[in-house]
Amino acid sequence: MALLPILTLPDPRLRIKAKPVEQFDADLRRLVDDMFETMYKSNGVGLAATQINVQQRIFVMDVSDTRDQRICVINPEIISREGKQYENEGCLSVGGGAYDRVERAYKVRLRAQDIEGKPFELDATELMATCIQHEIDHLDGILFIDRLSKLKQERIRKKIEKSQKLENRE
Ligand code: NI
Repeated sequence: MALLPILTLPDPRLRIKAKPVEQFDADLRRLVDDMFETMYKSNGVGLAATQINVQQRIFVMDVSDTRDQRICVINPEIISREGKQYENEGCLSVGGGAYDRVERAYKVRLRAQDIEGKPFELDATELMATCIQHEIDHLDGILFIDRLSKLKQERIRKKIEKSQKLENRE
């Protein structure tokens, strides 16, 4: 297993739309293992392939407190949405300590394939539903900050610039 470097803003590769996975093989299993390891090491609840510079429709998530409920999602599609929620979101690719409330569906039904290519469906609410919507956005080149007001986006952009300047000075 290996830790993978995570792309961060303003890296333009975060804006590339990912392509469907067609090969369910050993390379895919290795990639997914590395994604889980990288997600756990970074204390994230989800990680999309786009964030590690792989333009394929894959994400991993674990929203449990015990950090032992791995879910690997390939070629995801949301087939129904219900209600609304506004929870705080952050992102390993945005950094700068930026987080904010984002409007998301409260409940979603996900259709996807597992690591073997077998189709499955999953009903999710609350944090898991938020995570699914956030990660699918990544696969479409969308970041949570894109869903905030222009004013808030500007504030976050400045915050990130500032923290990057500090890092460069070190
Ligand atoms: Ni993210």
